[in-house]
Amino acid sequence: MQSTNSIHFANRTAVVTGGAMGIGAATAELLCELGARVAILDRSEEHGKDLAARLVFAGHTASFHACDVADAASVERAVEAAAGQHRGIHVLAACAGIQRYGDVVSTSMEVWQETLNIHVNGCFHAARFVLPHMLAAGGGSMVLVGSVQSLAAVANSAAYVTAKHALTGLTQSIALDFADRNVRANCVLPGTIDTPMVHWAASLNPNPESVFEACRQAHPLGRIGRPEEVARAIAFLASDWASFITGASLTVDGGLLVPVGGMAFQKGGTGSTGGS
Ligand SMILES: NC(=O)c1ccc[n+]([C@@H]2O[C@H](COP(=O)([O-])OP(=O)(O)OC[C@H]3O[C@@H](n4cnc5c(N)ncnc54)[C@H](O)[C@@H]3O)[C@@H](O)[C@H]2O)c1
Repeated sequence: MQSTNSIHFANRTAVVTGGAMGIGAATAELLCELGARVAILDRSEEHGKDLAARLVFAGHTASFHACDVADAASVERAVEAAAGQHRGIHVLAACAGIQRYGDVVSTSMEVWQETLNIHVNGCFHAARFVLPHMLAAGGGSMVLVGSVQSLAAVANSAAYVTAKHALTGLTQSIALDFADRNVRANCVLPGTIDTPMVHWAASLNPNPESVFEACRQAHPLGRIGRPEEVARAIAFLASDWASFITGASLTVDGGLLVPVGGMAFQKGGTGSTGGS
């Protein structure tokens, strides 16, 4: 039983998909600091092995398991290896993801399948293979990483928006189906977060800095988020501090989804005072 005066994961094992970089890496690090044994599942062997080695060097219990979340057999192998090495699985943070662009005409069938395979099938696979271990442990908690694009759309992102919308449904299905067996499932919905994915996306523009500036201006808090700010929300939802929260979606977006019509409308539209 965890004490209630702090968030910690003593004697718990967490599987973090996409744990080699970005939000997943920050989550793996934070869960280690909070006492978890952490298994990083990622297709990037270079970054995943490096992070696991750094965590072990810092005195934590961590491992890396190569896996492509889109491939069910690969996820099953990695999950079983993690469970065997770390004595069960109690937490899943499903962070693996890719960004792809296109509308329903310009998105190729390959990109459509790739995006849905990694986001939707990837979370399905992770949940499916981790669940028996949670049930054997008497319960567990999973957090899927959605996006503000789980609730709203960004232009030219049909596959990504569709995939991210699906994850709130998957979260609620798991929450409902396993509530009576002490498994909770929640979703975090980040705004723009400073990760390799966003740097790659910005690099598609001839002026990447203009993309970052537009992102900063779109968020009422006036900046983009840091990976550890999402990791903290994931850790909270995964912990016993969130013991009565299941099926929920938590925005971690600096207020991005709050202003009707976006920040430009707030500054120049009805109700604006003409100030900054
Ligand atoms: N960065 C943002 O602004 C932002 C905003 C909202 C949601 N998200 C979501 O957060 C999650 C993490 O994004 P990020 O920004 O940290 O991205 P990132 O590219 O920095 O890291 C993603 C990680 O997932 C891994 N990965 C990708 N495809 C994989 C696969 N098929 N199998 C196994 N591992 C795979 C990558 O190797 C990498 O380590 C994604 O689901 C993304 O859609 C990100």
